Amino acid sequence: MLENLSEQPADALLALIKLYAADTNPDKIDLGVGVYRDADGGTPVFAAIKAAEKRLIETQDSKSYLGPEGDMGFVNGLVPYIFGDMAVADRLDGVQTPGGTGAVRLACDLLMASGTKKIWMGTPSWPNHAQIFKAINMEVGAFEHIDISTQTLNFEGVMNAIAQAAAGDALLLHGCCHNPTGADYSAEQWQQIADAVTAKGVFPLLDLAYHGLGHGFEEDSVGVRTIIKTVPEALLAYSCDKNFGMYRERVGALYVIAPNSSSLPKIMSNVYALARANWSMPPDHGGAAVRVILEDADLTQMWLDEVASMRARMRRVRDMLASHGKVGAVDFTAIAGQNGLFGMLPLTKEQIMMLRSEHSIYMAGSGRINIAGLTRHNIEKFAEAVRVVQK
Ligand code: LMR
Repeated sequence: MLENLSEQPADALLALIKLYAADTNPDKIDLGVGVYRDADGGTPVFAAIKAAEKRLIETQDSKSYLGPEGDMGFVNGLVPYIFGDMAVADRLDGVQTPGGTGAVRLACDLLMASGTKKIWMGTPSWPNHAQIFKAINMEVGAFEHIDISTQTLNFEGVMNAIAQAAAGDALLLHGCCHNPTGADYSAEQWQQIADAVTAKGVFPLLDLAYHGLGHGFEEDSVGVRTIIKTVPEALLAYSCDKNFGMYRERVGALYVIAPNSSSLPKIMSNVYALARANWSMPPDHGGAAVRVILEDADLTQMWLDEVASMRARMRRVRDMLASHGKVGAVDFTAIAGQNGLFGMLPLTKEQIMMLRSEHSIYMAGSGRINIAGLTRHNIEKFAEAVRVVQK
């Protein structure tokens, strides 16, 4: 039986981790997988997480099962950061998931169970989005999110997609810090999207994986809050990989905004049943550590300060890169106005491979760079290499 399977390519982003590790050049630069790096190139555990884990080890008295919803203290603790004081409390509930990926998968399973067959997605997007949709036979309608060659956000793209969509289709929206392009909608554009999906009966699936890494937790919530206060119902997938540095711990949540409070229990019963069939219940440790932080004012402040310094560093790197101006076809100035961990450069596959083989610079095959992989020590080398490979 199993011999009937055909060979699958390794996940291109995750494969970069191994390729980079195998390179012996001491001046190699890792701009690949989306992991925050500090000015020394490290990804240390947050001090707030270390303190929370210590407390957890001292006080946790059982590892008995929690249930398919996971740690609701964790799920509810994030609510003020995501939703602020929005008046949706009686229509809102959530569950803990294995990372943001688990949340996207669960959201799609729920949409398929509700009768949605097609999801609209701006491209490029995080490659795993398309892989998840394919895995559950969800049809994808693609539209251009940004013209990479000119770094111009294609707002018409999403508006045309909504116009073409059928009622009941879903629309994937990156809440902030678009992966892979860093190009986000303005507050006015979010409102236009919210009005258009509401008028058309298109279902928004919000993916918020870089919350707090753009301009701040409140600022980065503008898009999702605009959608949620306008539409009758929505789903929001949340990841703590980056903003708590919990990558390998798989910490995420799925939030449901139901059309009314009376339908919420029925909808959540479906969420629990799907979660149970997928992974039974989410891994506890990471979510519990995040909950310990959110329950304690001092640890919360420590965490917020750590995120603020990450954000400030990425802004500085963006400004440094932008100061290189136009290098061949690559206009670095656009990077300064974009957000989060990523930017996408209009380089050819050959140029990206040359950066890898001749300069030990590792970026995704799409041209995506991890902004946090750049430091004041390697940024000149990077800009120069981008110039050389285009000659
Ligand atoms: C990325 O986009 O590089 C990260 O979100 C890691 C991943 O899972 O792909």
